[in-house]
Amino acid sequence: MRYPALEQRLNIGIRLERPEDKGAIFDLTKRAFAPMPFADGDEQEMIDRLRDAGALSLSAVATLDGAIVGHVALSPATHESGESGWYTLGPISAEPALQRKGIGRSLIAFARDWLEAQGASGCILTGNPAYYERFGFAGAPDNAPAGAPPQYFMVLKLKDRCPAGRFCFHPVFG
Ligand SMILES: CC(C)(COP(=O)(O)OP(=O)(O)OC[C@H]1O[C@@H](n2cnc3c(N)ncnc32)[C@H](O)[C@@H]1OP(=O)(O)O)[C@@H](O)C(=O)NCCC(=O)NCCS
Repeated sequence: MRYPALEQRLNIGIRLERPEDKGAIFDLTKRAFAPMPFADGDEQEMIDRLRDAGALSLSAVATLDGAIVGHVALSPATHESGESGWYTLGPISAEPALQRKGIGRSLIAFARDWLEAQGASGCILTGNPAYYERFGFAGAPDNAPAGAPPQYFMVLKLKDRCPAGRFCFHPVFG
């Protein structure tokens, strides 16, 4: 699938991961998160753990000339109310040398299209509000999972509502 905004900047395609992509996704995620002061250092392992747990709901890659230059993961999230249809976005990575050229934007657009096709209620994440607000995510400190930094917890509502109470990430996130 191609995204018009991206084609203005780089000739990149977005597609679902294939079995042979696993190593490249691992390496890219490691490279992208390594310089980040907030990184736990195990983001690349998280993707493998989600996959092994059957919890990698969506794993999509951005490609440029056949090389993998971006990746996004979605996994199921739960809510204390029992409401279903929620997912966690992340980890998400763009090749360090190609950042700020629309790769992240296109991966998020692809993930959103997938969520809407599932009839999902919405999507949660912990991340920098300065980046994610442009995609419709809004700060939701009162809904933050126990142990997650509330000031970085964000929700994208796809059905105009978010239940009161805490979300939970998939157990592999610890
Ligand atoms: C976060 C990340 C995936 C974004 O991917 P990207 O391809 O660089 O982002 P895009 O080019 O699609 O950016 C979209 C917009 O956000 C802006 N932006 C990018 N990174 C930003 C940041 N860290 N803070 C604020 N704005 C940012 C861009 O300038 C762009 O704005 P524009 O469309 O008005 O020009 C990428 O920077 C990355 O891999 N970072 C390291 C890993 C990481 O931090 N992952 C997220 C953890 S929550």
